[in-house]
Amino acid sequence: MNNDSAHLSFFRTLTFKLSVILVIFFSINGIALVLWDQHDLLEGIKLDTQMAFAGEGTTLARELTPIIYDAQATQSYLDSVAFYYQGMELFILDSSGRILHHASDVPSEIKRQKISMEPVFAFIQGSEEDYPIDVDIPTSVDLSFVFSAAPINHNPEPRYAMITFLGGGDDPELSFWEKYGALLTRTILFSLAIAALTGIIIWAGFTRRVNRAANKVRRFKSGNNHVKIDDNSRDELGAVASAFNAMVDRVDQMLKALELKEKSRSELVATVSHELQTPLTVIQGNIETMLLHQREIDGPTMDHKLRTIHDQINHLSNLIGDLFTISILDTGQMHIKPEAFLLSELTEDTLAEFEHVITDKKLTIQRDFLRPPEPVNADPIRIRQVLRNLLSNAIKFTPAEGIITLYTKMSDDMLEFSIADTGCGIPQDELEHIFDSFYRSRDTHKQKVKGTGLGLAICQKILGLHESALTVKSKEGEGATFSFKLPIFSGTQ
Ligand SMILES: Nc1ncnc2c1ncn2[C@@H]1O[C@H](COP(=O)(O)OP(=O)(O)OP(=O)(O)O)[C@@H](O)[C@H]1O
Ligand SMILES: [Mg+2]
Repeated sequence: MNNDSAHLSFFRTLTFKLSVILVIFFSINGIALVLWDQHDLLEGIKLDTQMAFAGEGTTLARELTPIIYDAQATQSYLDSVAFYYQGMELFILDSSGRILHHASDVPSEIKRQKISMEPVFAFIQGSEEDYPIDVDIPTSVDLSFVFSAAPINHNPEPRYAMITFLGGGDDPELSFWEKYGALLTRTILFSLAIAALTGIIIWAGFTRRVNRAANKVRRFKSGNNHVKIDDNSRDELGAVASAFNAMVDRVDQMLKALELKEKSRSELVATVSHELQTPLTVIQGNIETMLLHQREIDGPTMDHKLRTIHDQINHLSNLIGDLFTISILDTGQMHIKPEAFLLSELTEDTLAEFEHVITDKKLTIQRDFLRPPEPVNADPIRIRQVLRNLLSNAIKFTPAEGIITLYTKMSDDMLEFSIADTGCGIPQDELEHIFDSFYRSRDTHKQKVKGTGLGLAICQKILGLHESALTVKSKEGEGATFSFKLPIFSGTQ
């Protein structure tokens, strides 16, 4: 099935759904308004009629006062009034609401012999502000809805004259459809017309925008990564457009990052191959010479060749070890296990590994550690790796009889470790590159010093895992100082 919006059936479009909602809305609205209006109209008629005929009850009561004791005369009088004033229904009630007399010019059957006197008293005692007061209609004629009433003198118990007026109201003979059908049809047709018109207007604008957006999405799908939907409106489509544009930007960034990663991966492969190739060539060359000229090679030459092979194998082994470390650092597989330890003690321990070289080169090691020592909270195995490389660099790049100073101090509530040497230093333009993997100085003199250029990159990444960083201060010819900070162990970690 094709889901493209261009092939979307009209009945599934938002516009169609919107039109249906509009039709329902307008219909309900129309019907409610008409019924409401009718109700208001009826209330108005009731009020006007009641105000106009309010005095009729009193007139009837006055006329009946002299004859009320004569039941027959009373009934005849009521019948004659009903005959002359068509539209009136006349009642004589006792004070409990029982109907004593009834007259009507339309066939009307008494359904209940007793009615509630509450509205009757309310009418007699009330003023025009309380109108309309609805009576409890006791007959089968449902059309009466306004009444007038008055007391008639009669001892010992008063009687009450009550008049209802056949003024309208609901006709029980008509069905709901007969009463409201035409109105409903008109309302629905009108709603349909308005909804269709609104739908078409919205549809035209909306579809144009949806199609434009769909085209852009199709272009994106077919490989154009820079396509953007040009829709700044603040409605839902505008929101979709800006979300799509943000996605395009994100994809673009990801692709660029991926390209960069791919490029650096290829560079890494080339560098690693080159780094591996050099010692292998040296080893291969020496072994070939030894094989071809076994007999002619004297003892010292053989010794030298074997030492060279040994050195190169060492170099290869270090290189592979560093490569492994950098790869687990890059893939996030190295996890640190912080614990409390004294940095000065770890430094002394690490320094012991270099005792021979330090003695050979007649280097002076100065210490200026914070007293009393503050334990730090870090991973001692990884920090030892950092110290080892920093010490190895300082020793490698400082000429014989130079001085290496190791010191710690408090800085921003952290313990700062520094290692300063009096070696050849680092030129300004190289400072920003020394932390890159495989970066080694361009200086030919320095290139004679063994190394892979991975040491400082590893240090930086390990300190990164400790939320710290390695910093360097150096001037060419004036030595170099490397520093990093570690958090003090607070005892609660
Ligand atoms: N103390 C220092 N004095 C002068 N130059 C330094 C010092 N430390 C580092 N460098 C420069 O920074 C470069 C990178 O150092 P890094 O430790 O990463 O590599 P390396 O020591 O050459 O090799 P590796 O540590 O992998 O055996 C060095 O080759 C050197 O040029
Ligand atoms: Mg190094």
